[in-house]
Amino acid sequence: MKGLILSGGTGSRLRPLTYTSAKQLIPIANRPLLHYAVEALVQAGIQEIGMIVGETAAEVEGAMGDGSRFGCRLTYIPQSAPLGLAHAVATAEEFLGDDPFLMYLGDNLLKGGVTQIVADFEESDWDASVLLTPVAHPEQFGVAVVDGATIVRLVEKPREPPSNLALVGVYLFRPAIHDAIRTLEPSWRGEYEITDAIQTLLDRGRAVHAEMVQGWWKDTGRPEDVLDANRLILEELAPRSEGDVDADSEITGRVVVEAGARIVRSTIRGPAVIGAEAVVEDSYVGPFTSIGPRVRLTNTEIEMSVVLADAVLDSVPGRIDGSLIGRGARVARRRRSPRAYALVLGDHSQVEVL
Ligand code: G1P
Repeated sequence: MKGLILSGGTGSRLRPLTYTSAKQLIPIANRPLLHYAVEALVQAGIQEIGMIVGETAAEVEGAMGDGSRFGCRLTYIPQSAPLGLAHAVATAEEFLGDDPFLMYLGDNLLKGGVTQIVADFEESDWDASVLLTPVAHPEQFGVAVVDGATIVRLVEKPREPPSNLALVGVYLFRPAIHDAIRTLEPSWRGEYEITDAIQTLLDRGRAVHAEMVQGWWKDTGRPEDVLDANRLILEELAPRSEGDVDADSEITGRVVVEAGARIVRSTIRGPAVIGAEAVVEDSYVGPFTSIGPRVRLTNTEIEMSVVLADAVLDSVPGRIDGSLIGRGARVARRRRSPRAYALVLGDHSQVEVL
């Protein structure tokens, strides 16, 4: 069994962070999202993994390497343009050969991993198996109609959803899918939809299995999803401290302090993670917060937030809550007059002031 992880796409809903970073590399509990994806596949016994990349190829490759540190082999496969999930599979056809494969959308996070769906598929003779979960807004997804554990029909982003079961972005295929993809026409949004290819399998009388998500599933497309994914991962944090915590600081709950980090006269309430070489001084870090590597936090209170590497937060009045702060960003109290907001914001930034 091979793996195919999709790591192209522009991440427009996560701008401005995705102007300088691939959405699949957004850190969740200080680790790029893609680490969790690769680990899930390796845990399910998949060691040959193709990584579909687009404009952010160099950055993805830099963060993931050849896969050896995850116990797998990563092959980077450039996709000429983001023309849809079925187009990605067609692009990878040579890599996939006649092997069955698992396709995983790189911006997904699944607590239960993919071990069960892989094991069930390997024991079966289904031509495809898809992972489903009930959602509140099925019209934003591919939607499945099931009869027990068998898929009867699939529609991509239906205006009137025939059920509330969404395709979460984990698919297993046998090679019959390649032929189905060759018959596709682009959809209304100009993409070759994998949903339509699976429907073609059904039309040809092939068996498509429905597997339900166990545990939680998170699509990390929007800032609030990133914060929530961060919360869910931190819920399972195993505490450890490799940094320096002074006698005037208080750490409670599950907290990770990475190597070289310094906590000075501060309170950290877990679950939280303080990145390598970060400095937290005279500050409060509250639950569900990830502070990235080399961040400097001075005289500031923050909770339920994600701060990326090298950001500086200095003497911010009032508590920062539910915030996503990009790499090298600086938020500081103004020390001269006029007493006014002074903002230099990237395109598509969002700020809510008191
Ligand atoms: C894609 C698929 C859709 C699926 C979704 C899961 O949608 O086309 O069927 O439900 O991923 O995240 P897209 O993210 O391209 O809108």
